[in-house]
Amino acid sequence: MVIASNTQVALRYPEGIREADAQKLHTIMDAAHQMKQLTDHLLILARSDEDLSHLCEVVHLNTMLPKLIDDYQEQAQNLSIHLVLRMEDALDTLGLESELRRVFANLIDNAFAFTSAGGEISIAATHNDRQLQISVSDTGIGMSEETQARIFDRFWRADTSRSYRSGGAGLGLAIVEAIVRNHGGSVGVVSRLGVGSRFDVRLPSA
Ligand SMILES: Nc1ncnc2c1ncn2[C@@H]1O[C@H](COP(=O)(O)OP(=O)(O)O)[C@@H](O)[C@H]1O
Ligand SMILES: [Mg+2]
Repeated sequence: MVIASNTQVALRYPEGIREADAQKLHTIMDAAHQMKQLTDHLLILARSDEDLSHLCEVVHLNTMLPKLIDDYQEQAQNLSIHLVLRMEDALDTLGLESELRRVFANLIDNAFAFTSAGGEISIAATHNDRQLQISVSDTGIGMSEETQARIFDRFWRADTSRSYRSGGAGLGLAIVEAIVRNHGGSVGVVSRLGVGSRFDVRLPSA
């Protein structure tokens, strides 16, 4: 943060800076932000094995999911991607709302990163008496079987990721898996190359 904020201050008065140097400062700032994101993600993972049960509360997905989807509508419009949410009533689970929000945000971020204009991202949330299932589906590039077997590994990214809108370090899905497991649930993927992907999150119903 020190590197990023000092660079930002320097760039606030670009008159005294040569154009080429200003570009270097932008590069430094981007790199500092990426480093911060990486250390944040490593900290989240390091903490993910902690027992957080004393902090648990009832999380109402019927309130949380619409708010989260709302935050993505502008991005969806800008990228010409159709974003839809379908959910049944009474979707409650026990846990930490901020953590569960991160799970779905990571899945939706990925769906946006690998889906092109005209595509669709849909979130469907249903339940039976014991379990909630929240599915995040996209009509994006999809994944081969080999890829699907590795995506939940820490730091793993497909080579194709570079050419898409994904700037992560390959920790997003490892974080998703750790949080969901810590909430007594599970996550899986169904995907076909060139057709799309669906991530299914299962959580205990409260
Ligand atoms: N919805 C998706 N469609 C296609 N590939 C995906 C999708 N989500 C994840 N992946 C693949 O899984 C890899 C790991 O994802 P993730 O753990 O979120 O890391 P990152 O976002 O940093 O690439 C991605 O680099 C990509 O290859
Ligand atoms: Mg990601």
